[in-house]
Amino acid sequence: MRVLVTGGAGYIGTHTLIELIAAGHEPYVVDNFDNAVPEALNRVSELVQRPIPFTDCDVRDRKALTEVCETFRPEAVIHFAGLKAVGESEERPRDYYDVNVAGTLTLLAAMEAVGCRRIVFSSSATVYGVPEYLPYDEAHPTVPLSVYAKTKHMAEGILTDWQRANPEGAVMLLRYFNPVGAHVSSRIGEDPQGIPNNLMPFISQVAVGRRDKLMVFGDDYDTADGTGVRDYIHVTDLARAHVKAIEFAEHTAGAEVFNIGTGQGYSVLDMIRAFEKAADRPIPYEVTDRRPGDVAAMEADASRAAKHLGWRAELGLDAMCESVWGWQSANPQGYEEGR
Ligand code: UD1
Repeated sequence: MRVLVTGGAGYIGTHTLIELIAAGHEPYVVDNFDNAVPEALNRVSELVQRPIPFTDCDVRDRKALTEVCETFRPEAVIHFAGLKAVGESEERPRDYYDVNVAGTLTLLAAMEAVGCRRIVFSSSATVYGVPEYLPYDEAHPTVPLSVYAKTKHMAEGILTDWQRANPEGAVMLLRYFNPVGAHVSSRIGEDPQGIPNNLMPFISQVAVGRRDKLMVFGDDYDTADGTGVRDYIHVTDLARAHVKAIEFAEHTAGAEVFNIGTGQGYSVLDMIRAFEKAADRPIPYEVTDRRPGDVAAMEADASRAAKHLGWRAELGLDAMCESVWGWQSANPQGYEEGR
């Protein structure tokens, strides 16, 4: 299928391009390179040995998006473009609602202009809020707490209503748990700007010597070792879930929600130990206060994706850590160029 990929130069987007091409699809990227660099697309292009067509455009730019759609005629869209830092979303709510919510509406208008009715949306398990029970299934109540979570929840609602008004359309809402890992080639990976907010990029920057030590946010949670537990999912598994979702959307109509996780939770200390093994070096850390807004544990019940999409995570914790170390040690400063 011809697949328009918004935010295709980003962390999850680049990995998804590789899996889309491997599965015989034809991607076209739009990205405004706000939190991504063209070098990432160059590297995808090297890996797949073909050019990756793209347009430098903002997902809120209706005219530019419509022009791309009129030229490329997408049969499906994968919508990654968005802002994703929880802390920043509290400081810049207007930007988050504008990009994540208004951007989704603009994209739908451009899709309608060319009769494209299939979309896979990059949502987040953060829409569930505080767990009432674990593992989360898709029927768990959604109580989004941060501005970021609210923007994802609103976009899910917009897409669901849009599908109801376009009954032949297909909307796939993928609620990601904690994406980590890098491509096996070590050529592409996560490259956060500034100080990483998330655990895995922070650990890998400590391992490579860019930062002195990791701060562990609390060891007094009600978990086996007291540190926070999360369901980490390898980005290559996550990328493959998108391919399964567009292929499912090709033959179906409706709005569907899928948890994308492994079902296996690991604590912060588990992650440190696994990374120490992969990188063969100690990760200095210090326990500090809990981070406001963090929950003790999150785990996915991903059986719905297995049943309907025929997708399940295949890569375990060692593959996650080894691939991150491969990427970080080969690219200590990330993509460098364009920064
Ligand atoms: C965070 C976001 C979530 C978003 C996800 C995307 C918050 C509160 N949540 O999830 O909405 O969808 O990223 O990837 O920001 N930790 C440390 N030290 C660190 C960093 C993290 O101990 O320097 C701990 C955290 O307390 C948590 C675990 O590591 O227990 C994972 O944290 P993180 O990678 O930031 O992910 P989430 O908080 O689960």
